[in-house]
Amino acid sequence: MEIKITKNQHPAEKPKDESKLGFGLKYTDHMFIMDYTAGEGWHDARIVPFEDLHIHPAAVVLHYAAEVFEGLKAYRTADGEVQMFRPIENIRRMNNSAERLCLPTLDENDAMQALTTFVELEKDWVPHTEGTSLYLRPFMFATEANLGLHTIKEAMFCIIASPSGSYYAEGINPVKIMIETHDVRAVRGGTGYAKCGGNYAASNRAGERAEALGFSQVLWLDGVYQKYIEEVGSMNVMFKIDGKIYTPDLIGTVLPGITRKSIIELLKDEGYEVIEKRISVEEVITALENGTLEEAWGCGTAAVVSPIGELAYDGKEYVINDNKIGSLTQHLYDELTAIQWGKAEDKHNWTVKVK
Ligand code: PLP
Ligand code: COI
Repeated sequence: MEIKITKNQHPAEKPKDESKLGFGLKYTDHMFIMDYTAGEGWHDARIVPFEDLHIHPAAVVLHYAAEVFEGLKAYRTADGEVQMFRPIENIRRMNNSAERLCLPTLDENDAMQALTTFVELEKDWVPHTEGTSLYLRPFMFATEANLGLHTIKEAMFCIIASPSGSYYAEGINPVKIMIETHDVRAVRGGTGYAKCGGNYAASNRAGERAEALGFSQVLWLDGVYQKYIEEVGSMNVMFKIDGKIYTPDLIGTVLPGITRKSIIELLKDEGYEVIEKRISVEEVITALENGTLEEAWGCGTAAVVSPIGELAYDGKEYVINDNKIGSLTQHLYDELTAIQWGKAEDKHNWTVKVK
């Protein structure tokens, strides 16, 4: 694929204080764009100076939410190199999401080329401080002007990047999570497994209510019985109960997290029994009450591994591991980030170096 590059003649100053980056607030000098037209396929791949997009007020995405996105990171290693973590997994998941939303899919090699060429150009934006990274946000949406509901004929694929620090203000300290008992996020046959903007829009109300009560995010229950644990707003969830690790299985309603998949592999390498199954909220409450729930954590690209210090359900608040980071949670965070930051051997070949 040919990518036309137009360099930004007025590059911005890189953030001086990397401890104040926050998450997703600042953007780099360029963005990748390519267009899709039915019959022609993807065309006009280009990297251009970062600027506002111009889209038609009747563009399908603005009315019918035909949008999917991804989130992955580029890390600066100790020897100054830059590497991405499992980018091919993000590309494949984006194609699964696109297929669900009837958006066009991407050629895997072209998408990889787009990511690597873009990160190569923005390499100096990858922050240096431990715990920071360049968050990459590929996204795709339907652009054609049409208020009727029809097969999507025009779309755009973009990649933007944001130098980022910790996702939570708490850093790697325990977060308070509220189990949501009213709204639901996904049902089987719906879009739960797809990374589409609509899932997050539908989650906002519960998220806002939880935030107003002092919680970081909500833990979703299944959309039918509101009985089984699914995932947190931006993370998959895992519990250590009686020495074994439990995580909800992927039955179409939960996002198949790449961090989840990686952690399961790391846990199995170390001999842990990992059980992927439907976990009822009662099971978790019982384990909390009888003291067998040792640790709980969320995991995701933005949040990495985030200890859950407090879970609220039905008006009751339960403290986990004295509201401290559990030893396994800390170990998983250390192990995963050591691979991502190039400090530990990458036995699984998960990282992809950028020139
Ligand atoms: N679940 C949801 C709803 C998410 O938004 C994310 C973040 O991407 C995850 C789980 C974790 O997925 P990953 O580890 O691929 O980032
Ligand atoms: C990510 O972890 O990459 C995400 O996409 C989370 C996002 C919803 C903030």
